[in-house]
Amino acid sequence: MAFTYRDGALCAEQVPFEDIARRFGTPCYVYSRAALEQYYGEFTRALAGRRALVAYSVKANSNLGVLALLAQLGAGFDIVSGGELARVLAAGGDARKVLFSGVGKSEEEIAQALRAGVLCLNLESEGELQRVAQVAASLGKRAPIAFRVNPDVDAKTHPYISTGLRQNKFGVAYDDAERLYRAAAQLPQIDIVGVGCHIGSLMLGTGPFVDAAGRILALAQRLEQAGIRLTHIDLGGGFGIRYRDESPASISQFIDGALGVLAGRGETLVVDPGRAIVGNAGVLLTRVQYVKRGADRNFLVVDAAMNDLIRPALYGAWHEVLPVQRRDDSAEPAVYDVVGPVCESADFLAKDRALAARAGDLLAVMSAGAYAMVMSSNYNTRPRVAEVMVHGGKAHLVRKRESIQELYAGESVPSW
Ligand code: LLP
Repeated sequence: MAFTYRDGALCAEQVPFEDIARRFGTPCYVYSRAALEQYYGEFTRALAGRRALVAYSVKANSNLGVLALLAQLGAGFDIVSGGELARVLAAGGDARKVLFSGVGKSEEEIAQALRAGVLCLNLESEGELQRVAQVAASLGKRAPIAFRVNPDVDAKTHPYISTGLRQNKFGVAYDDAERLYRAAAQLPQIDIVGVGCHIGSLMLGTGPFVDAAGRILALAQRLEQAGIRLTHIDLGGGFGIRYRDESPASISQFIDGALGVLAGRGETLVVDPGRAIVGNAGVLLTRVQYVKRGADRNFLVVDAAMNDLIRPALYGAWHEVLPVQRRDDSAEPAVYDVVGPVCESADFLAKDRALAARAGDLLAVMSAGAYAMVMSSNYNTRPRVAEVMVHGGKAHLVRKRESIQELYAGESVPSW
């Protein structure tokens, strides 16, 4: 696997984390190229022989190094902003493999996507259909569209990352979809190319995903009867990974479930995985600054904080914490909360972990490739950290650490 101990020292592929810390400083994110290739390959292998597109969900990790690698491997991209489109193009991604989702696309973003020639805009409301038609008319173009349909299926995941229920803001209502497709078919600037859905993130079982596929297929069949033919069916992402001891269904089980539902259909199957490709391909490397014994609890105060990795604070998410150097000389492990320097009680990366750490030790916060660096902020005027990609015995800086000056470079003091 990508992150293993060699002679008691944790390594990323063949590079010891000690070396990475010495060369690039801490905190930093470290990605394994081999792991990215392996997890992406699980999708292409499961889909072999089927007309399909794996559209990596850029929001999970939008580093140009990651995007360029996936583009080289043939991936498409699921994006939610003009900013993500710019990143995909800067990384050498193919606009004709880009699907643009999101409930709030601006006129400028729609124009940017149409000029770039994206595969599809996934529309999430009737208002957006009108706006896209207007923008397309003003550019003298036709807009390729799908509706993102909310199938009202419970993904059985954390409420903050569940998106396919009636009460969620995402997609158009299932019962409204056919009417909207008929309306779209009347608009000369609109090209209907597909249908999309995404019911939520971090699904562990295949049931909800397969149910959603069935509901979307039923809609596609009704549209066919109405003379509306689709080129692709996009079932979204949301494939769970193991953070702790969960046993998510395998990628091939998810894909086989969908392929079973869609047997005999000619549409291209699109999936947009994010976490399943990058989640376990990344680590947050951090250094213990202080071992602090409180009245009630013990703390390892590290140099990374909630602004670098907000998932524990936001979702109560579990990330495994491993010592970079396995000690045999150490005292008994104690139970610690691993906390950062930010002034919030929610600033923790892990709670109640048995660790034998001392000040100066390095710790690896695991499964930090997805929704980690991308959700970081500058809270407490903390520069965003460096990102490093490892390939065999080589480590490459794929994003340099921000400087403090950069953080206020755009600010000014009024002279009145
Ligand atoms: N497609 C659409 C339309 C999405 O909204 C998402 C994620 C994905 C694909 C990719 O989902 P994935 O395969 O990565 O589960 N920040 C949260 C996760 C938010 C997911 C948002 N949408 C977290 O840290 O768990």
